[in-house]
Amino acid sequence: MKNDDLKNNWSRNAVVYQIYPLSFKDSNHDGSGDLNGIISALDYLNDGTPNSLGIGAIWISPIYKSPMKDCGYDISDYYDINPLFGTLEDFDRLIKEAHKRGVRIIMDFVINHTSNEHPWFLESKSSLNNPRRDWYIWRDPKEDGSPPNNWLSISGGSAWTFDETTKQYYFHSFLPEQPDLNWRTEAVRGEMMNVVRFWLKRGVDGFRVDALDTLVEDGYLRDDPANPKYDAKIDGEYTSLKHSFSRMPSETKYCTNILCNTVSEFENKFIISEAYAKIPLMAEMFKSCDKKIHSPFNFNLMKLPWKATEFKKFVDEYEKSLHKEDWPNYVFGNHDRPRLQDRIGEAKLKVAAMLLLTLRGMPFIYYGEEIGMKNANIPESEIKDMFALRANNPKSSRDPERSPMQWNSDLNAGFGDVKPWLPLSDDYKETNVEIESKNPNSLLTLYKELIHLRNNSIVLKLGSYKSLKTKSPDIFSYVREREGKRILVILNFSDNQIEEPLPPNKFKVLVSTDKERKQGEDISGNSIAIKPNGGYVLEVMEQLGKY
Ligand code: NOJ
Repeated sequence: MKNDDLKNNWSRNAVVYQIYPLSFKDSNHDGSGDLNGIISALDYLNDGTPNSLGIGAIWISPIYKSPMKDCGYDISDYYDINPLFGTLEDFDRLIKEAHKRGVRIIMDFVINHTSNEHPWFLESKSSLNNPRRDWYIWRDPKEDGSPPNNWLSISGGSAWTFDETTKQYYFHSFLPEQPDLNWRTEAVRGEMMNVVRFWLKRGVDGFRVDALDTLVEDGYLRDDPANPKYDAKIDGEYTSLKHSFSRMPSETKYCTNILCNTVSEFENKFIISEAYAKIPLMAEMFKSCDKKIHSPFNFNLMKLPWKATEFKKFVDEYEKSLHKEDWPNYVFGNHDRPRLQDRIGEAKLKVAAMLLLTLRGMPFIYYGEEIGMKNANIPESEIKDMFALRANNPKSSRDPERSPMQWNSDLNAGFGDVKPWLPLSDDYKETNVEIESKNPNSLLTLYKELIHLRNNSIVLKLGSYKSLKTKSPDIFSYVREREGKRILVILNFSDNQIEEPLPPNKFKVLVSTDKERKQGEDISGNSIAIKPNGGYVLEVMEQLGKY
């Protein structure tokens, strides 16, 4: 794609919604969500009217064939759909139905590892001289029989598992059932690019690349150094080491570049990659794709303390680090992290939504975030997350943020008519799509208003970002601007009402968290009162004042 065309790339226009397919909608009465379930919910996501959310793209967590040891992040066939979710024909129908509604499809792409049941791994482990031996990372034990080095697995224990057949260890960044592919092997790279082309030809609009930051490890297998900040009383075992050699994200540029080149053989596609990176590493990762169709995920908002000054500082620095055509993104939640509601509390959800949907770049919404779903209480005996089970650490379970979508107050929250694979959150009778759709004051209504405003506003989609100096340290305020049109956003991060001076202009309310201020209402004067945890999106009507 030529750089001139980038502003027309769908990524520049879309609000993205992450679907965890097991938990979204069950159409075939087996307790797990599936592709036909997603198709039946497409109108909720975007039916072309302001009654729906107005989503522009969905990222679906993995739906490939898989033994499901890590809920699909362990793939045994990259060219087929897991029967639990449906068939290739169902997937084709999903693409068709989504595209009909202007919704793009982002496929999850697990490139760091396969399932240990993948035929490639079965061949690789069968003998020392199997042609696929170097598709994975095998090493001899140390003289005493122990693993080749001290590397740890992110899902608990050593990152090496001994295999009796050839008396060598294989490396796995995650579960032993997820052996790492060896990206140094040319044939591996070639085959993975075939996978990319297969799905692009089928009509997907891009990829979310899983665990990009674990793709490359030290070729000399040097031991990871100890982490001096490790506290055995609070931290898990993985934190006891600094992963300088087992995880080398800045060495992955070469792989991103290959991926980018392959994806750009097709028109109007986009890649977003998973890396828990701070600003300097994100800036480096952006550089690895000169086509500018790749962004590293920005997960930093999930860790920031809920303070206007911290958010302003971060967004300013992130914006400053970006080159002209780098496309930022913002994320508040995903299937690996406790839900937003549990981190910041219900009172702050509206201001968080306003922030997410008015910043420059690609906003990501994790399913259920738009209705304020919280972490479900999952009894220890019902934990499904293999990472938590293997690490013997129930607290680290990711099940609570993966509970079934809350559609209504009926049986199983409308998710399906048999017992869901994970328990529901106990608030589903009050917190659900049906109830919130009828309430003009609900979080869901605010999400719809903000997304529709954004979808119809070139200023919010493509305009520049500039933060403002505020009188109160609890206010984060910024101007978005394009072609002489300006939108002012004012967000109150505190639990107190704040009177904030206004620049000398006339304004019109576009969206407000305060239902007493009607859309289209004029605002003038020297200041504006912002309710606790409230916010405004205002159109700047006259270009009198400077910002
Ligand atoms: C990151 C995914 O988001 C997570 O759910 C998964 O367990 C690991 N990668 C391994 O694929």
